Amino acid sequence: MVAGNWKLNGSREGACSLAREVAASVVTGVDVVVCPVSVHLPEVAEVLKGTDVKLGAQNACAHEGGAYTGEVSSTMLAEFGCDYVIIGHSERRTLFGDTNESCAARHQAVMAAGLTSIFCVGETLEDREAGNTAAVVDAQLQAVFDLGGKQALDGAVVAYEPVWAIGTGVTASPEQAQEVHAHIRGFVAKQDQAAAAKLRILYGGSANPGNAAELFSKPDIDGGLIGGAALKSADFLAVCQAAAVQA
Ligand code: 13P
Repeated sequence: MVAGNWKLNGSREGACSLAREVAASVVTGVDVVVCPVSVHLPEVAEVLKGTDVKLGAQNACAHEGGAYTGEVSSTMLAEFGCDYVIIGHSERRTLFGDTNESCAARHQAVMAAGLTSIFCVGETLEDREAGNTAAVVDAQLQAVFDLGGKQALDGAVVAYEPVWAIGTGVTASPEQAQEVHAHIRGFVAKQDQAAAAKLRILYGGSANPGNAAELFSKPDIDGGLIGGAALKSADFLAVCQAAAVQA
């Protein structure tokens, strides 16, 4: 699986043409997802209609409705054709005050609405240098289990995005990423073995056409969550092709 996180980029027209370019290339054996800005979702959904490319949102409210200014609910996203929602991206956590608990609540709402959460975890450079990578990732995942029970990640997607690799041009080495991905699968297995076995764990953080194949060759790396390289269709499609080779 390869998902493009377009973050806060693009115009109405630009989002539609990027989606059109991605959808024009068939990538067999890989689930391809694009996640535009929420106001672009309805039009991008129209572009993707009848194609194999799936639509995702970048966040969702923990609540169905009510006095939550500025939020969008999972049911609303589903109504506009979303299948996936990115939850707990490090930019939400560091810039917009999301906590392990609020991310878990958002995740639960996404799954309850029948959508698939792409639940992001990852450590800062400071955490890694202090030897705390596993503890940080465990706490992020544990909050999901604490709220939703042992099966809370069943059918979900987890994205490992080391904060120090996001938008920096510094990628985790395939070995560094594999180590954390294997740890994540093991941590989930302690709660739910079946869910862990089928769990798709994506790597994110300066992934691009030059490093994707090597990352995806690792046994616990099941695809990528792509930022910068997802904004150019040729680069994004090259990353998708790298995943197709492994599929
Ligand atoms: P970059 O690929 O730009 O490093 O961003 C990764 C990311 O944050 C995807 O969610």
